Amino acid sequence: MNWTRVCSTDDIADAGLKDIEIAGTKILVTRSGDEFFAYPLRCPHLDEPLSTGMCDGETLTCSFHLWQWNLRSGKSTGEAEIDLLKYPVRVTGKDVEVDVSQVLDYD
Ligand code: FES
Repeated sequence: MNWTRVCSTDDIADAGLKDIEIAGTKILVTRSGDEFFAYPLRCPHLDEPLSTGMCDGETLTCSFHLWQWNLRSGKSTGEAEIDLLKYPVRVTGKDVEVDVSQVLDYD
């Protein structure tokens, strides 16, 4: 694994969405309680940024055409035809670290 610190745990509120760029890779970091998750920033539908979406409990919703996924698994929970790809995340102290060494692409 190639861990990179992306933010502090204090930088994202519960159910918050934050877009972050790491070495040219744009990701979405989300939080549910004490757990953090990271996905490619672009929606697999039409490439719009998921950071403008909504997070309600366990559900992440893209604001453009309302595709939805389980926040923890990235699995589709509604009309979304594609599951989200996930980056590995770990929390070390107050540091949220993500491994973006693997290229995740919906094409
Ligand atoms: S761009 Fe996200 S649902 Fe269409």
